[in-house]
Amino acid sequence: MMVSFRNPILKTKRAKIFIMKKALKWIGIILLIAFIIIQFFPKNYPENQPVTENDIITHHNVSDDIASILKTSCYDCHSNQTTYPWYSKIAPVSFLLKHDIEEGRGELNFSEWGTYDVMDKIDKLDELVEETQEGKMPLPIYTFMHGHAKLSDSQKEQIEVWANSLMEEIISE
Ligand code: HEC
Repeated sequence: MMVSFRNPILKTKRAKIFIMKKALKWIGIILLIAFIIIQFFPKNYPENQPVTENDIITHHNVSDDIASILKTSCYDCHSNQTTYPWYSKIAPVSFLLKHDIEEGRGELNFSEWGTYDVMDKIDKLDELVEETQEGKMPLPIYTFMHGHAKLSDSQKEQIEVWANSLMEEIISE
């Protein structure tokens, strides 16, 4: 059945839809071109470094259980041993990852733990307990992509017990 629009309002409606479709097509093309162009921007991720004795795990003889939690849930952003996933090569995801890794390493770098002074260590451990208990760390956006990094209640508990005893150890040294 042919539908013809003799009514002028319908005519303009049809014209509007036509223009909107065209505009959407061009927006799509422009977004695609922008997506391709940003792939050529340099990634400039912070570089990984070899493990030294300043790493918290060797520095404090951290148990395998705790070491495994830290490595699985924190080390991608808080150490010099980041494992970059395949999508880290894709912009704009790469921009977000770079930002989180740089900021994370800047705030707390487990690989450089041995270089922190006593006050800093206590402060970081205290923050660490708070952030993990409140579910703020690891960052939710991270556990969305790394399900196994999400801390269980018992892991949070383990982290808290460990951090508290390490604080006492550091103070009494
Ligand atoms: C996806 C990256 C990422 C992961 C994974 C991650 N963090 Fe963070 N963390 C950050 C960023 C970014 C900041 C700084 C901004 C903020 O506080 O939200 C931060 C801040 C912190 C701070 C605050 C430091 C300070 O001195 O104020 C602590 C403590 C911390 N993280 C502990 C952890 C622990 C413990 C884990 C693992 C259980 C973890 N984070 C996992 C990115 C991450």
